[in-house]
Amino acid sequence: MTEDKKAKNKKILGIKGLNDVLPEDAPVWELLENTAEAVLKSYGYQRIRTPIVEETALFARGLGAVTDIVEKEMYSFEDALNGDRLTLRPESTAGVVRAVVEHSLTYNGPKRLWYSGPMFRHERPQRGRYRQFHQIGAEALGFGGPDIDAELIMLCQRLWDDLGLQGVRLEINSIGNAEERNRHRADLIAWFEQNRDVLDADAQRRLYANPLRILDTKNPAMQEMVNAAPKLLDYLDRDSLAHFEGLKKILEYNRIPFTINPRLVRGMDYYNRTVFEWIGGKAGAMATLCGGGRYDPLFEMFGGRPTPSCGFALGVERLIELLKEQGGAGVAQYTDVFIAHQGEDAMLQAFALAEALRGTGLDVILHCAPAASGSSFKAQMKRADESGATFAILLGEDELKGGKASVKALRAPETENNQRLVPMEQVADYLIGQIIGAEDEHPCGCSGLCSGPSSHGIH
Ligand code: HAM
Repeated sequence: MTEDKKAKNKKILGIKGLNDVLPEDAPVWELLENTAEAVLKSYGYQRIRTPIVEETALFARGLGAVTDIVEKEMYSFEDALNGDRLTLRPESTAGVVRAVVEHSLTYNGPKRLWYSGPMFRHERPQRGRYRQFHQIGAEALGFGGPDIDAELIMLCQRLWDDLGLQGVRLEINSIGNAEERNRHRADLIAWFEQNRDVLDADAQRRLYANPLRILDTKNPAMQEMVNAAPKLLDYLDRDSLAHFEGLKKILEYNRIPFTINPRLVRGMDYYNRTVFEWIGGKAGAMATLCGGGRYDPLFEMFGGRPTPSCGFALGVERLIELLKEQGGAGVAQYTDVFIAHQGEDAMLQAFALAEALRGTGLDVILHCAPAASGSSFKAQMKRADESGATFAILLGEDELKGGKASVKALRAPETENNQRLVPMEQVADYLIGQIIGAEDEHPCGCSGLCSGPSSHGIH
């Protein structure tokens, strides 16, 4: 083969850090997405979908110029067609606030919104850290009190409970307002200057530009010094303290356990007052599953009216990983029926039967030939079994002669007589009767109430 041809035939692979979600993981993704959607709806949150690409200036202004994301993680490019500076969204809060200001969505009062979708950050790929990852987030816009902060936190707690997740813990902090942070900042810089010999290169660079973020360092050599640094909580005035106390009171009243982490500052400049993170995972591999807080100044930064707001976003991949670790992924992909057939007449009748069954609410997979030569019943039954179907229907010459179909219960014990001939026009009723009869033993253990991936359409 010539070099030219070799290059042409070379496999094209996916981009590093941008992952394919394969069908085997589809059930656990659906479980998370469906549960989150149901929980968000139950708190009155409405869905918003904003573009994946925004003007670069939106993130630079909203997130802050001296943040990891804006400094080194954004996928920014120039639109070759018109020269616009654009960026793949690294997060969604800035885009949601832009859309809310642009469409005056809060003109008649506060709004509770949620979103779900891919985000992009050029980070070093490793477990739980990807260049394309997914977030599900909520933004409550136009609410000034600590009650909404508590509601968002309790919504997360409900989501973890509904997903059956264990060992997810909550950290909260208040980072006050700009004035309080300025007072703290002066003392913090003085403290870091006294400890200059301990500061790593990153911290040196941030010393005057963003000293608060130095508190967030993971560098073991800096922990002792950072732990002893002046605490922002000690600089809060009466209103900020009252806000923080208000949040703690609601959480305590509702028995939501939390710890106060005075070093929790979060990675974007738009935050003020309440910040929080949910942390979970195996010992030694703990990860931040979800993070959020108040961002009262953001609307004005985008030319909107003052609109106090609070929100969070959870990392879908990190939660999926935890769900799988904790056994929540054992949801098999069930379909109700697989139809196998042989011969042209049978194929035509199989199509009609599949449509009729789907019309009654059953999920049906129809065998389609992988090659023009067709396939044996044996090969088709193997596919039927792999599909996870509850029943297989066989349509061959013999069945058609008698106007019947063979219905085989695939999940019944082998010893039972689990195959019978059913008149074609009675197949739907027969299957529904069988499924309802077996409802107590529903495969997902839901007593027939589930709406998850293992449910059949006739619930
Ligand atoms: P964030 O803390 O940057 O906050 O991201 C939220 C969550 O997204 C993280 O806790 C983590 O689970 C996940 N995440 C972040 N980066 C990656 C990555 N490279 N790979 C995998 N997962 C990742 C925000 O994005 C804010 N917009 C949250 C917010 C909403 N604050 C107020 N409203």
